[in-house]
Amino acid sequence: MRTRENFDTNWMFHFGEVGKIVKTVKKAGMIAGLTNALEEERHEPFAMGEAARITQDVIRKLMGDPHFEISQIYGSDTPDDKHTGWVCVDLPHDWRLEQPYSQEEHGAAFQGYLPGGVGYYRKVFQIPQEDEGKKIVIEFDGVMRASSVWVNGCFVGDHLSGYTSFHYDITDLLKYGEAEGDNVILVRTDTTGGDEGWWYEGGGIYRHVWLTKHDYLHVDRWGTFVRTDWVKNETAAITVETTISNEYSRTMDYRIRTSILDRNGKLSSTTETDCTTGGLDKLTTLQSLQVSYPQLWSLSTPHLYEVVTELLHEGCIVDTYRTVTGIRTVEYRQDGLYLNGEYVLLKGTCNHQDFAGVGIALPDRVHEYKIKRLLEMGCNAYRCAHHPPAPELLEACDRLGMLVMNENRVMESTEIKLEELKSMLYRDRNHPSIFMWSLGNEEKISGSYQAKRMLKRIRELATKIDPTRPLTVACLSQDGIEIDVNGVNYAESIKGNQSIGEWFHDHPQAKVLNTENVSFFSTRGVYEDDPGGGRCSSYGSKYTMSGKEMDVGNLGGAGGTSTPEQSWRYYLDNRFTGGLFVWTGFDYRGETTPFQWPSVTSHFGILDYCGFAKDSYYFYQSIWKDEPIVHLMPHWNWSERAGQPVEVHVYTNCSEVELVLNGQSLGIKKAEVEAGEHTLSWQVVYEPGVLEAVAYRGGMEVARERKETTTEAYAIHLEADGTELMADGQDVSIITVTVRDTAGRLVPVANNLIQFQISGEGKLLGLGNGDPGCHESDKGNARSVFNGYALALVQSKDQAGNIQIKASSVGLVSDVLTLTSMNSSAI
Ligand code: GAL
Repeated sequence: MRTRENFDTNWMFHFGEVGKIVKTVKKAGMIAGLTNALEEERHEPFAMGEAARITQDVIRKLMGDPHFEISQIYGSDTPDDKHTGWVCVDLPHDWRLEQPYSQEEHGAAFQGYLPGGVGYYRKVFQIPQEDEGKKIVIEFDGVMRASSVWVNGCFVGDHLSGYTSFHYDITDLLKYGEAEGDNVILVRTDTTGGDEGWWYEGGGIYRHVWLTKHDYLHVDRWGTFVRTDWVKNETAAITVETTISNEYSRTMDYRIRTSILDRNGKLSSTTETDCTTGGLDKLTTLQSLQVSYPQLWSLSTPHLYEVVTELLHEGCIVDTYRTVTGIRTVEYRQDGLYLNGEYVLLKGTCNHQDFAGVGIALPDRVHEYKIKRLLEMGCNAYRCAHHPPAPELLEACDRLGMLVMNENRVMESTEIKLEELKSMLYRDRNHPSIFMWSLGNEEKISGSYQAKRMLKRIRELATKIDPTRPLTVACLSQDGIEIDVNGVNYAESIKGNQSIGEWFHDHPQAKVLNTENVSFFSTRGVYEDDPGGGRCSSYGSKYTMSGKEMDVGNLGGAGGTSTPEQSWRYYLDNRFTGGLFVWTGFDYRGETTPFQWPSVTSHFGILDYCGFAKDSYYFYQSIWKDEPIVHLMPHWNWSERAGQPVEVHVYTNCSEVELVLNGQSLGIKKAEVEAGEHTLSWQVVYEPGVLEAVAYRGGMEVARERKETTTEAYAIHLEADGTELMADGQDVSIITVTVRDTAGRLVPVANNLIQFQISGEGKLLGLGNGDPGCHESDKGNARSVFNGYALALVQSKDQAGNIQIKASSVGLVSDVLTLTSMNSSAI
């Protein structure tokens, strides 16, 4: 029977080279050193067994050197002290985040000034005797970047891309049971060969590792494809394509039983097919099923189904394979996206896999947290820029109802890049959330014959593997692009010879989608550009992409490419473009434009690196949500500006807003929301107190927000997104740390350094504060709040019990939070 064990725990990690580990061998299975069991580990008799020992003795005699080691011929150097510099880690892990910031490397700003290097992971593990006779495969969801893997003295393989999943069949290399001894896996990770992207890419085994065991007759890896052919008259027609691999050397007769279960585990449909597959061969079989009264996957009701594939051989089930999917149709028409036949305005953000405290090594819970934050903003679509994501991100989008544009890293049709494309398509094509594949981003396609040929090949391959979803390429210019949906980046601001409206007019058959927009710089809680501190004004920065200062008066301009307001109005004028994909939902490390050092993160996010809302978050809420929104900026702590005018902005989707300072009305302004006007502004002469915005619809008050002048920082406040954790060593509580005044109000200018102490059944996984110019380590025990906020990630251990988090700072009242970590049965 198939099992899939998580293989994330109890790895040893070493930063830097550990000696020379070879990949070539003169004799089978004889690479020594760290790739095999060491003295204190349990040897398999053969590894240093009879044959090798005799050879070693002969050579010792011939050379007259009693200390000669056979490994000098067969294998690798092992450092003298094998234990120096090795630490125990669990995965996912990003070693780059543990390095000190450095300005040394060329182009360091793109990688957030965290240097690359080489890191080794080594794990000793046992395989029970009863597993002999099963196929055993090790699966890596993602390793950054170039990786090499050795198992028990054999070199197993290299993998180049940090963004694609890969696996190795290690059945024959393993040692089974007590008698054979300990198994050793060694993984070398190396970022020194060059970056794949222009953003922070981290380093190490940053996604999950799995050990999968199954019969020699089994569903192939990523071997199912479930698709909705049509839905009508309360029936859905489903095709299930199943690829079976027969790794026996003889022909096998078997039956495939495919069952579709609803979310309560109730059988919705089932079918069986008899098949025969030759030895060491594969076979793909199509089965048609119908589901009555299907619960469709939609954004408001993201219903999931489980397709269970059972292989029966001589009446026994030899493999059971589960595919989680949804029943739904997607179609991109000339006026945009249709999900289950209904138009959906795409309210999208582009994002990298990166977060405070963990870098690229996001625990599953953090993926989910990020998606929830985006949904709260009204966002309904996520572009995986510019590479396939971790599987758990897609699972969160499936569960929570977020559409996904999944993106190929590089649009090249070399064999290696086609393999990467295939791995994305085969791995991910059952996710109902994915509505479109993007084959590339801003490639230099226009006018190049070579690029056209490459795109044609890639397009044909992608359509063959998944004929159900449209393809796009995110481009700055549409010249020469032949693709289902013309993806346009920054059509609101990049002025070529033609506007996108004119281009569309000249291409009456085209379908167009905005694949990237806005690129607006801002820093949470900052209202004036601060190049020395690496921070941008929330009104809009005066600095261009290349870091040049523009002459735009006090308030700043578009920052990067355009303001959120300009992009939204552009969309309203060009509704055939499907919606917006804002660059980006969250800040990420690296790509520190417009500044370089001391900035270490980007400034594009609507939310900062910790997921705390910047002011523009409320602008997007006001264009993307129906419920009444009103938001005031800036904060109201400007004692140094008493008597001087302060620019006040209000974001709203209501028709009128009244501004009130200390009980005195400063007037009512109308917002022409239908025409895309969501930002109102006032010049207010500063006096401390309470500034309030009161929003009206049809003359009725529907929402209000206030900013109060606070007194000094007085106390720390901790708040968890959930106080119950699973005691699985993986679950995470996301804790918002704020500094408050005596009245409990957030102090928006506080920057106190907070010390964290964790006791009980949990550990501090990481810290952050969203400040692009902060160089405190995400992996320490202390972090300053930035404009009132910091973030702590606390991870469970595998023992149930309480976890206490104490936060203290000189001169502030401390806070203590208790979390409960429970066994899964208790939750
Ligand atoms: C785009 C690019 C993104 C990011 C962005 C910054 O052109 O696709 O990856 O670099 O610019 O504005």
